[in-house]
Amino acid sequence: MSGVRILGLTLKNAVVVGSGLLTDQERNIRKLLATGAGAVVTKTIHPNPPRDLDERILRLPSGMLNSTTYSKRSVEHWLAVLTSFAEEQLPVIASLHADSPSELGELAARVEATGCRALELGISCINEEPGGEDDNPDRVYAYTTATRSRTALPLSVKLAIGEGLDDRVRAAIAGGAEAVTVSDTISGAAVSPESGELELGGVFGYSGPAIKPLVLAAIWRLRRRGFELPVLGCGGVSSGQDVADYLSVGANVAQVYTALHTDMYETLDRIVTQTDAVLGRQADQPAGAAR
Ligand SMILES: Cc1cc2nc3c(=O)[nH]c(=O)nc-3n(C[C@H](O)[C@H](O)[C@H](O)COP(=O)(O)O)c2cc1C
Repeated sequence: MSGVRILGLTLKNAVVVGSGLLTDQERNIRKLLATGAGAVVTKTIHPNPPRDLDERILRLPSGMLNSTTYSKRSVEHWLAVLTSFAEEQLPVIASLHADSPSELGELAARVEATGCRALELGISCINEEPGGEDDNPDRVYAYTTATRSRTALPLSVKLAIGEGLDDRVRAAIAGGAEAVTVSDTISGAAVSPESGELELGGVFGYSGPAIKPLVLAAIWRLRRRGFELPVLGCGGVSSGQDVADYLSVGANVAQVYTALHTDMYETLDRIVTQTDAVLGRQADQPAGAAR
């Protein structure tokens, strides 16, 4: 597949590497792009990330729990890195968050000045206040509109599936978002067989293959209910068929993250190659034959 358009970028394929620990390093981002990613989303850049949390990942048979929050690298570091990406016209989407809507707007303006061409608002991370309030439309609107007031860049608001998703998507649109990324991690917990206590000490972000059917359903419903904005589908992609499944339910591109924690570059290469093959096969089918 060639020339996939999203957030004002033209990607060479529909496979986007999602935001996370693996995209906290310039070197990884460059190598992920060289390996074939259509685009890469940075780890979420934050002017004041929490530093006193115990941030860890835990592999489960069905996926991954993580208690991580935002990049600990300084905004100045990221501005320099984003400037060099922009000079080389690399398809890198900057993921941003801040402690308040006005600070997020300020950060977005500084990122735009680097030449970066697209933003994702990583405002829905559940790990900052585990067990805290669910996300809500007012909050989504406040962060989105404050960002929009400071930048003309195309932006996607990243949301987690769950209660009130339709209203949160409406709030993102009303605030000036071009697109939404669905989904961030969703609340999960595992119990330690030894102690009987919750692993990682609480309820944290759950990701990986087990969430894919839930996210597919959420995106399918958004389309069914008439939402037409571009959607970056995200959750449990580990094969080209998974990417094709996201496109089938109405996503414009698919992000892949947790799968890349195993053999990062080999896995990405496989997913991109499989995606080309699956989409090529689908394009060869006579109209309606797949149904
Ligand atoms: C270890 C880890 C770190 C993550 N960090 C971020 C982050 O900084 N910003 C963000 O928007 N999403 C973050 N995510 C969420 C992923 O980008 C993705 O939305 C989620 O994991 C679902 O996709 P997957 O099942 O392919 O991993 C993180 C996920 C994991 C597992």
